[in-house]
Formats: sequence, structure tokens, C-alpha cells
Amino acid sequence: MSVASEVKTGFEFKPGLEGVPATLSSISYVDGKQGILEYRGIPIEEVALKSSFVETSYLLIWGELPTQAELAEFEHEIRYHRRIKYRIRDMMKCFPETGHPMDALQASAAALGLFYSRRALDDPAYIRAATVRLLAKIPTMVAAFQMMRNGNDPIQPRDDLDYSANFLYMLTEREPDELAARVFDVCLILHAEHTINASTFSARVTASTLTDPYAVVASAVGTLAGPLHGGANEEVIDMLEEIGSVENVRAYVDKCVAGKSKIMGFGHRVYKVKDPRATILQSLVEQLFAKFGSDKYYDIALELEKVVAEKLGHKGIYANVDFYSGLVYRKLGIPTDLFTPIFAIARVAGWVAHWKEQLGENRIYRPTQIYTGSHNAPYIDMESR
Ligand code: SDX
Repeated sequence: MSVASEVKTGFEFKPGLEGVPATLSSISYVDGKQGILEYRGIPIEEVALKSSFVETSYLLIWGELPTQAELAEFEHEIRYHRRIKYRIRDMMKCFPETGHPMDALQASAAALGLFYSRRALDDPAYIRAATVRLLAKIPTMVAAFQMMRNGNDPIQPRDDLDYSANFLYMLTEREPDELAARVFDVCLILHAEHTINASTFSARVTASTLTDPYAVVASAVGTLAGPLHGGANEEVIDMLEEIGSVENVRAYVDKCVAGKSKIMGFGHRVYKVKDPRATILQSLVEQLFAKFGSDKYYDIALELEKVVAEKLGHKGIYANVDFYSGLVYRKLGIPTDLFTPIFAIARVAGWVAHWKEQLGENRIYRPTQIYTGSHNAPYIDMESR
């Protein structure tokens, strides 16, 4: 019996595949040292200021900004496909109301594959239809689960409302304030795409098997849910609640540093400076507070950001996208466990763009491993174990 060693393989193992290119992509670009993010080459600050989420999705998925006519057609298709089949609603009604909305979303996204049969992946009409269905129906499913877990019927989408206003409407049956809807739309833009992050990697691996796009999105939703990835936005709010007051911040950070525990909403594999999305989100928080009043958690968050920079800035640990997004959603009255599903609603654009790009030059993902087990081990009979 012998033990395999790394030396024998000649491969270097990089935990978490840090720094290992997993694909070629022209969808987005990140410079982690300078804090730059671009969608199809356009700085995120420009996109956030000037675009809408639907237009941004078009840009990411089709590679360029749409003309007015192209955008109008895309918006129309998405509005037209917002409704979900009653059987999907009935299926969701059977989900336990105590279940996490991300699990409900993963199951519902996968269920779309039952209703919309798989067609040739080289058929542009199929790619277009699946893209539209995913963008149109995922928000409806998130809102429907929210209503049904509270014992209410789902609220039907309203064709006269744009993407974000309609989602907020389906959560409350009230037309949202204009600023609230615009701020929410910008949040979706900021979360739409981020190179080869964990959930997008998951989407590309699934896509590379040539399975259907609903399975691609369902696998990505499952990956996004974890607290080291999209799930961190919920944990940030729990953390701010636990800290409780500005005076407690320093002791909290000291405890985390001493215990080597992670401070949620901070740190990033690529960014070694403040995430540019966090800077924009912070300005959105301030716009909302100026109109609707402040939140005591914001003062705690500001102090936390200051103390973390002081204690962990030398390691390149600064606020990431998940740090301020929760404060925006809280101000909009959205329950904490919907924060990650909202991240998923936005990231559908990026996942679909990567699905399409993967299909363009597909080769199944099949990396290697470095075996660390034994060889020629004896099979021990049951009575001898
Ligand atoms: C997202 O990849 C993407 O692009 C993701 C994303 C996207 O848009 O798709 O940007 C969205 O997922 C944002 C990240 C959300 N997660 C969190 O906020 C959870 C808290 N952050 C971390 O757990 C961590 O920073 C990660 C998961 C984000 C990154 O992990 P890495 O690159 O594997 O880094 P690591 O855990 O190996 O840490 C390296 C060092 C360690 O210190 P040392 O042992 O070297 O002394 O940095 C420290 C860590 O202890 N560290 C932290 C920390 N993050 C890293 N210390 C305290 N608090 C933190 N948050």
C-alpha cells in the first residue's frame, strides 16, 4: 500500500483555484487592485447611473447596448412572460413556509425545465426564449413564495410597471415610490455580473454539459446561497443587529480578529480595495435615508467599515458588494431572507450571458485532481473490521 503524493503528479494545487483562469470571457472585467469593474468594457459607475436593469441585461447577454427598438422589444417580451404557470404556483404552495426562499427559488427555477422542453442549443430562438423566461419569471417566483408563505395568494405581475417597480409591487400589492424603484433597479444593475465568481463558475460547469438553461440557473442559485458568497448580505444584517451599537463595534472586530472569524460583507478574492459596487450602494443608502429617514444600523456600519480598514486594511480587506445592499433592502421594507434571492434575480443576467458564451465555444469542464488516498488497499471482510 502506498500514499499518492503531490510531487508525483507534477501539478500545483491552488486551493479555491485562486488565480487559475477557468475561462476566456468578454462579459465583464475586474481590476481588484484599482477597484475597477466594467460590463462589456463600460465602467460600472456609468452603467449604474445611465442604464436600467433590463438594458444592462441586454448589454451583458447580447454583447452591446440595444437600440431603442431592440430595447423596447426586449422589455415587451419580458413583460409578456412574467406570469408563471398555475402548476408552478401549486408546486410552490406545497413548500414549507419555514423553508429558505433561496431553496424555494432553486427548486422553482429547476421546475421551469419541466414546463419548457429542451430544444436545440444552437437555435437562436430557443436561446432568446429561455433568456426572456428566466429574466421574466424568476422575480415572479421569488415574490410568489413570499406571498404564499404568509398565507396569501400571489400577486399577479402588472404589465404597466417596469421590471423593478413590478417586483416591488408583487411583494406588497402597492405601487412603489419612484425613488425606491430606481434605487432597487440600480441594485440589480450592480449585482448583475461579476466575472467568474463561484455561482457563475457553477453555471458554466453545468452549461458545459449541454443541459438545459433552467438547470444552469438552478445550480447557480444553489451556489449563490452560501454565506461566503451571496448569502453574506443576510448575515451582514444579523451581524449589525448582534453588534447593537456604535460603541460595541471595536470590541466586535477585536474578537473576530483574535478568533480569526470572518466579518461578513468584507474581503474579496479579487478586490484588495473597497469594492466599487459598495461605494455606489453606500450612495444609494444615503439617497434613501435622505428621503425616508436614517437607520441606526447605518451608523454601526460606518464605524465597522472604519475599524475593519484600520485593523485589516493591510490584508486588503475592505467592504464588498454584500455590505451595504442589505441596508438598502431594509429601508425598502424587504425581509432579510429575500436579500439573497434578490441577488439571484439580478445575477440571472450574468449567468445567462455566461451560459450563452460557454455554448459559443463549448468544451465540457473536466479538471483534474491530486489523489491523496492509498493504492492497492486490501478489502477487509466484514467480520474482520
Ligand atoms: C460575493 O467572487 C466574487 O466576485 C463574488 C461576488 C460576486 O459579485 O459574485 O463579489 C459576491 O460573494 C462577495 C463576498 C461575500 N462574502 C462575504 O462577505 C463573507 C466574508 N468574506 C470572506 O469569507 C472572504 O473574504 C471571501 C470568501 C469573500 C474571500 O475568500 P478568500 O479569497 O478565500 O480569502 P480567505 O478566506 O482565504 O482569507 C484570506 C485572509 C485570511 O487571513 P490569513 O489566514 O491569511 O491571516 O484574509 C482574511 C482571512 O482570515 N479574511 C478575513 C475576511 N476575509 C478574509 N478576515 C476577517 N473578515 C473577513 N471577511
